[in-house]
Amino acid sequence: MEGKAILTVLGARPQFIKAAAVSRQLLRFGIPEVIVHTGQHFDDNMSDVFFREMEIPSPAYNLNVHSLNHGAMTGRMLEQVEEIILKVKPAAVMVYGDTNSTLAGALAAVKLHVRVAHVEAGLRSFNMAMPEEVNRILTDRVSNLLFCPTDAAVANLKAEGFEHFETQIVKCGDVMQDAAYFYLNKAKSASTVLDKLQLHADYVLATIHRQENTDDPVNLKQIIEGLNRVNREVSVVVPLHPRTRKILESNGLKPEFTVIDPVGYFDMLMLISNCKLVMTDSGGLQKEAFFFQKHCITLRQQTEWVELVEHGFNRLAGANAHTIYDSYLEMVSKKSNFDIDLYGTGNASEIIAEKFRQWL
Ligand code: UD1
Ligand code: UDP
Repeated sequence: MEGKAILTVLGARPQFIKAAAVSRQLLRFGIPEVIVHTGQHFDDNMSDVFFREMEIPSPAYNLNVHSLNHGAMTGRMLEQVEEIILKVKPAAVMVYGDTNSTLAGALAAVKLHVRVAHVEAGLRSFNMAMPEEVNRILTDRVSNLLFCPTDAAVANLKAEGFEHFETQIVKCGDVMQDAAYFYLNKAKSASTVLDKLQLHADYVLATIHRQENTDDPVNLKQIIEGLNRVNREVSVVVPLHPRTRKILESNGLKPEFTVIDPVGYFDMLMLISNCKLVMTDSGGLQKEAFFFQKHCITLRQQTEWVELVEHGFNRLAGANAHTIYDSYLEMVSKKSNFDIDLYGTGNASEIIAEKFRQWL
């Protein structure tokens, strides 16, 4: 490794959670890491809280790029990450998931002939209108080391011919599962969210933030209406993403359900592990519902986590109020055996660190 570090580029909430698991293993394996925070997420409850609670190593750089259109955001990140790569001369650049920060990190590296490792490679929604689908396809294509969480992800890459490229595909399982298992006990002793919100009876946990839902007034209205109908039967609690809050406020939409500010990971673990059901358009939350043996209704037309739908743990409801309510009726009383290995055994980040040790 010649003392060279891995340069990790991250910037959005789900990436902090993934990095918490992986960075801990890199430290354990003695692999030096330099973290670049692009600044994409910047509120304390969207960023700093995760570094504090999960003890993620502090970023060496914060680029402070946020709240811009896709091109401007990705472009400004790209320019600054390039400078940092030239200065740090890392052995490889690691990126997570499918955000603009992911693409900027991967693109900056490949243009400088620095190897790229992509954690959460191979996922596809097959919907090119999603900014995330564009980001993940382009990132995968320029990556040398592709860490896939699922069999479906590996199959997607093979179907796209990745076996003929100069890449290594490693099925490692899901690093979010590592995080969920590792932090649950800490969350139980640190979080007071259930008492604070007086959540001692059944409740549904929901989140909404996808651009396809928030930026489409019909979709957003339908989702609010669907959740309002569910809320008339059982409390619906929504830690609301700032994107969605801004749009609801500017459209004068007032939900009937309980809206709270985004919460830290410990509170979120308690909210998920004690709820009756999850309803979400988040990628990460669909899996976390499964980790805690909860059924999930996905407020989208497609999911990248197809195995959850195939096994009946997840139902795609799109953004239609009737379908959302009908899905609730179907899923709320459903019984399933969640005892199946879809995402590994909680050692995905260890597999990643071990692979880096061999690769660098
Ligand atoms: C981004 C990712 C999405 C991911 C999500 C996780 C892209 C294209 N999208 O979407 O894949 O699922 O993060 O949460 O990268 N905002 C704040 N405070 C913050 C963060 C954001 O007010 O701390 C506001 C921004 O000012 C902006 C809006 O939320 O107006 C959207 O933020 P942005 O990072 O562009 O996209 P997300 O919807 O968060
Ligand atoms: N999350 C959180 N607090 C919240 C909402 C979500 O800690 O108020 C966590 C959630 O448990 C999951 C991750 O953030 O671990 C998912 O991020 P998000 O839904 O923003 O992005 P996506 O996974 O859709 O890209």
